[in-house]
Amino acid sequence: MFGKLFRRNREQVKLFYHTDIHSHILPGVDHGSQSIEQSLEMLEAELQMGIDRVVLTSHVTAMTFENTRESLMDSFLKLKDAVTDAGLEIDLYLSAEYRMDEYFDKEYAADHLIPFPGNYILLENSFQQELMNLDDLLFDMQVKGYKTILAHPERYTYYSRRRKRYEQLHNAGARFQVNILSFTGYFGEEARESALWFARNGMIDYLGSDMHNVKHAHIIMDYISSKEWKKLSPEIANTVKNDMIIS
Ligand SMILES: [Fe+2]
Repeated sequence: MFGKLFRRNREQVKLFYHTDIHSHILPGVDHGSQSIEQSLEMLEAELQMGIDRVVLTSHVTAMTFENTRESLMDSFLKLKDAVTDAGLEIDLYLSAEYRMDEYFDKEYAADHLIPFPGNYILLENSFQQELMNLDDLLFDMQVKGYKTILAHPERYTYYSRRRKRYEQLHNAGARFQVNILSFTGYFGEEARESALWFARNGMIDYLGSDMHNVKHAHIIMDYISSKEWKKLSPEIANTVKNDMIIS
């Protein structure tokens, strides 16, 4: 099952933290992992990079992935059993990546959200435009005790010409989770430039793999072996708080 990974012969470079807060490893609930076997392969890759705590943040999106607490929990329990059977020493936490849309509004109103331990919620903007009432929603969630994390802000290209907005959102209490894949250029040059801007400006609160498949893991593994990461990672390690999110 893990042959592809074991074939990599050089020593695997580890990340400087042990908690991945953004992943699509939960099987069969979105366009990430499609089977228990794929999930185990991805978790093995996480372990190779030094990650031993993974928050499972499957998509919850109107029309496409209208997951419920029940659908996610069902898959989570099956994966936990499989991880135990496989003998992988990795802790799993169930949450989700919530697109801020009409389905989210319903789930939020019904108090159906699944936060991380510590009441963190990973939120995703539309890729077309910012949510019209984003500030109001962030404020409302914070009043209710949620700690809001904006997933991969560097990927919303409508911000790249108005980066002051990032500062406003940060000052308003939104925390930022940047994808390591964005540094590699995987999501295009604009996202890469923005990711580097976040790094230079000390605005990366969390890093995430946002891993949907084992190919993503391999791209991250290659990148963290690069000279660029070697130089960048000590600079951003001061602001990255992945391991503090779960006590
Ligand atoms: Fe994601």
